[in-house]
Amino acid sequence: MTLIDLRSDTVTRPTAAMRKAMYEAEVGDDVYGEDRIVNQLQDRVAEMLGKDAGLYVPSGTMSNQLALRSHTQPGDEVICEYNSHIFNYEGGGPALLSGVQLHPLLGEYGILEPGQISEALRPTDHHYAQSRLIALENTHNRAGGVVYPLSVIDSVANFAREHDLAMHLDGARLMNAVISSGIDPAVYSEPFNSVSLCLSKGLGAPVGSILSGSAEFIDQAHRFRKMFGGGMRQIGILAAAGMYALDYHIERLADDHARARDLALTCRDLGYLENDISWTQTNIVLLAFPERNTVEIEAQFKDSGMLVSVVNNQRIRLVTHLDFDDKQLDQAKEILKRVLG
Ligand SMILES: Cc1ncc(COP(=O)(O)O)c(C=O)c1O
Repeated sequence: MTLIDLRSDTVTRPTAAMRKAMYEAEVGDDVYGEDRIVNQLQDRVAEMLGKDAGLYVPSGTMSNQLALRSHTQPGDEVICEYNSHIFNYEGGGPALLSGVQLHPLLGEYGILEPGQISEALRPTDHHYAQSRLIALENTHNRAGGVVYPLSVIDSVANFAREHDLAMHLDGARLMNAVISSGIDPAVYSEPFNSVSLCLSKGLGAPVGSILSGSAEFIDQAHRFRKMFGGGMRQIGILAAAGMYALDYHIERLADDHARARDLALTCRDLGYLENDISWTQTNIVLLAFPERNTVEIEAQFKDSGMLVSVVNNQRIRLVTHLDFDDKQLDQAKEILKRVLG
């Protein structure tokens, strides 16, 4: 039985056409800056996001960690959201790699308001760590793929400017936000000093993220990439997958969003959708099980032919992606009804 895999949008496999692009890619040594496709990919993403320069890195985690390292000094503080990837899923990296402390604030559906940040800002008194950076996430993974409203980002950025704080965007799924909202990626990125964009989530490349920012910032991050062991050699074959993803896999994110909404409607009818349907804005669906064991439910889904991911003991997550089509959508809805009905 082929399992329907809705654990994450990272589970996709390169399509035949993407593999062909990878096969045909010419390569050079990227540590010498001689891999033409890597250079093109970095420039292309930087231009798309309205930034001076880009840096190809192996993962979204490394991209975020490089941003933290490049924006801060040990002993500084980074304000982020309580359910953010940086705070929850990066192995405590900020403490080790940058020597910073995180100051997580609970946002509503993952969204931080400037008022909250203002309250959290540390005085300049020597008792306190120095607040240096605000990190936001768009779309917000753990909140269920929620799109950050641009007006809120703008007001947070105004606050940041007034208080001399840098802004970093974990835009692992920024293109989902772009397709959902119709807002240009450069407009979304403008309020940020740095943006991390993943090619290996909804965009369907097997690996890779691009960190972008000013030329000076990227030069600094480049140094830390080498230090963290992320300098790679003949990776044009990987960058070619990223180029292909940008050419062919952005517009189609709308299909993932439509299928997620369809799944969400089924979950709502069964009484298990975590939030109002209006919060299913992109490719992630959150199911709530206040009184049931989510690990057992996960196992029941697996026995019925579907992989899901357990967020915690009350929530299960479904994520739609490139390898999940309409036929599987119908099957998934049947499985949801069978297991939860
Ligand atoms: C919002 C967000 N940021 C960063 C990452 C990290 O990406 P990677 O798995 O490539 O390290 C993820 C991974 O799912 C994510 O969801």
